Amino acid sequence: MATLIQIGEIAQYDGQEVTVRGWLYNRTDKGRLQFLLVRDGTGIAQCVAFKKDLPEDVFEAARALTQESSVMITGIVRGDERAPGYPGGFEIGITNLETIQIAEEYPIQPKDHGVEFLMDQRHLWLRSLRQWAILRIRATIIHTIRTWLDDRGYLLVDTPILTPAAGENTTTLFEIDYFGEPAYLAQTGQLYNEANIGAFGKVYCFGPTFRAEKSKTRRHLMEFWMVEPEMAFYSLEDLMAMEEEFVSAIVAAVLDKHRMELEILERDVARLETIKAPFHRISYDEAVERLQALIETIDDPERKAELAITWGDDFGAPHETAIAEMFDRPVFVYHYPTAAKAFYMQPVDGRPEVCRSVDLLAPEGYGEITGGSERIYDPELLRQRIDEIGISPENYKWYLDLRKYGSVPHAGFGLGVERTVAWICGLPHIRETIPYARMLNRLYP
Ligand code: 4AD
Ligand code: MG
Repeated sequence: MATLIQIGEIAQYDGQEVTVRGWLYNRTDKGRLQFLLVRDGTGIAQCVAFKKDLPEDVFEAARALTQESSVMITGIVRGDERAPGYPGGFEIGITNLETIQIAEEYPIQPKDHGVEFLMDQRHLWLRSLRQWAILRIRATIIHTIRTWLDDRGYLLVDTPILTPAAGENTTTLFEIDYFGEPAYLAQTGQLYNEANIGAFGKVYCFGPTFRAEKSKTRRHLMEFWMVEPEMAFYSLEDLMAMEEEFVSAIVAAVLDKHRMELEILERDVARLETIKAPFHRISYDEAVERLQALIETIDDPERKAELAITWGDDFGAPHETAIAEMFDRPVFVYHYPTAAKAFYMQPVDGRPEVCRSVDLLAPEGYGEITGGSERIYDPELLRQRIDEIGISPENYKWYLDLRKYGSVPHAGFGLGVERTVAWICGLPHIRETIPYARMLNRLYP
């Protein structure tokens, strides 16, 4: 009796008779010899049908399989260095084959298609090798995020997605009708995290977040996943020390488990192997000075214009890329101008025009992957900030309460999963980092 196996574990079954269930990924027809590349979700195995070894009907069934037909194959596993597959090095000599469905002509051929076409076929595109590699790495990144935090005493406390008020800023809110009242999809769980630390000390939330960003960049999604740790009694320095360990652990886990996937993606792993704490730290002031010095060395007027910056401006993608390129590892930029950041950030002592904020910029032009800060914990100052930016204090009564009952200095950050996946996988665009991307021009499939 053949053992039902997963292709990912094929190496354990050398010499044995096994059954695999999956889909025909690709094939080579050599007449009397049929090489079927079969994938089952855990891997891809070459299955070989040899005419002289098989009953006529079985061999003919193998020949009749079209791309993506579903099939159950039984055969003997044998080691063969030349055998392609993931993992390669083993093939299955077919002894029996049962067709489950002959697939209709498959829209995605093993050739180059345009990205928009592939995004329209996303429900099928997910079956392709590159997408398979990316989403397996994504799963490991998410798993590592959870276990790293769980193992270190951060409690997962879920925060709501339907919210009565803005969490981050009022310009990127998705408004919905909540039984006649306006409500908004959560931009962040942070404000609730700040309540939760009063109950649990160190917490995190991890879920989908929503931003009605009217931008079409390769770094923005309307719906993305963010993990947000928040810690009582944490300073900005504590935060950076934690973030660099956290991010290094994520990269290390991917390097440990996914050499094969990184190879499929042709990722330069040397660039990932250097990702170890400590990361570089520069202030916003210094970042601006460095950019201005860089501009001095550039002749190309277009490039000069793109990098132009005056103190107080928020960084755009070209700035972030240029700063990151000055370092071999991720770089923390701290103390941003208060006016460029969210209302809840603690001003720097004696210099209220800058705040105790920190962004982590990934290398190789992947931009900001985390954003965080110390939070204002003085009730009067927070009330003042809420008034200044003109959001309705009514909705923030509970948030102000937190500053009345045992207020403590605290800090936290959010890490965007998709930007992290894009960086670690080395992808030019964020759309492939999430199974079903939600973008300015896309809500399908
Ligand atoms: O910098 P952001 O907006 O920070 C916050 O939301 C804070 N409340 C987090 C906190 O302190 N608890 O977003 C955090 C991260 C960014 O660094 C980026 O990685 C990601 O979330 N992000 C996006 N990813 C994809 N598409 C978008 N539109 C994103 N906006 C932010
Ligand atoms: Mg940010």
